[in-house]
Amino acid sequence: MTTPASLTDRYQRNIEYLRLSVTDRCDLRCAYCMPEGFKGYEEPDHWLNFDEIERLVAAFARLGVKRLRLTGGEPLLRKNLPELAGRLSALPGIEDLSLSTNATQLAKYAEQLKRNGVSRINVSLDSLRRDRIEQITGRDCLDRILAGIMAGKKAGFAPIKINMVALQGVNDDEIDTIVAFCLEHEFILRFIESMPIGSTGREAQFLDLQPVKQRLQERFGLVEGMLPGGGPARYLKSVDGKFSVGFITPISQHFCETCNRVRLAVDGTLYTCLGQEEKFEFRPLLRGGITDSELEDAIREAISLKPERHEFREEPCKIVRFMSSTGG
Ligand code: 5AD
Ligand code: SF4
Repeated sequence: MTTPASLTDRYQRNIEYLRLSVTDRCDLRCAYCMPEGFKGYEEPDHWLNFDEIERLVAAFARLGVKRLRLTGGEPLLRKNLPELAGRLSALPGIEDLSLSTNATQLAKYAEQLKRNGVSRINVSLDSLRRDRIEQITGRDCLDRILAGIMAGKKAGFAPIKINMVALQGVNDDEIDTIVAFCLEHEFILRFIESMPIGSTGREAQFLDLQPVKQRLQERFGLVEGMLPGGGPARYLKSVDGKFSVGFITPISQHFCETCNRVRLAVDGTLYTCLGQEEKFEFRPLLRGGITDSELEDAIREAISLKPERHEFREEPCKIVRFMSSTGG
């Protein structure tokens, strides 16, 4: 028997999770993410095509990547995404395929995605008030988002995680309302601290989640818990175990020492950290006739570039690219 392959970085972290951005476009303009009037999209010629994506993901999987997430921009804007999902979920070694979406178009694609191997979804939902969703995303889309989430529930994605970027003075008065909504529908809720990624992220009304965590713990009688799959969220659970709420706190309590992921952008750039510049370009290699074994060497080299940690506190102006182009 051969020992299973694994990708380890210079800090002994095992990289087993790839986030794959299938487009840098989005139909929304969340204030903390993308600027209104944004023009800096990748040219379609530069997008990795499905064959290139499949070949690269297969190589990552041979080296030990087991979990894959489709992200964007808004991934459902990529034409024929369910077809790509089917091809990727069938790759040897890929045990888990998930999707992060804003859900505006999920009602249309939920069943197809589920059939093609996407097992779970994360949905961004920053408010349950129509006017406020319009204020945050720049679009009047709450009804479509909710219809998308309910279609996801019906299609059988499990779990469904709701992600709320908590912003001081913007939506922090809705924290308890969102908790109640997720309790009712048995969704896992995660609150996220905004990160200074791009000018939009830097200008966001940052809210420290530590006091929020403490308050919710007392108010709902929650206990510290874990959720399978690890990830950066620290969880609280109800005593009966039915409700979980996670806190993703890159700023107030960072989690870089257990980081297990890298991000592939639509143009074939692998970003090894959200908060640093270290990256590796795969497109020229894929289009230049690289062999499979050279591709595996290139992946190992790329992983060795992964920095120890982000410096969002020390150097908040470092990352000028927007979240939508790195992959959320
Ligand atoms: N800080 C934190 N999260 C962000 N996202 C986008 N921009 C930021 C930011 N500046 C995340 C949100 C959203 C996902 C698509 O990307 O969690 O739900
Ligand atoms: Fe689009 Fe998500 Fe960015 Fe909002 S946060 S603009 S939904 S990519």
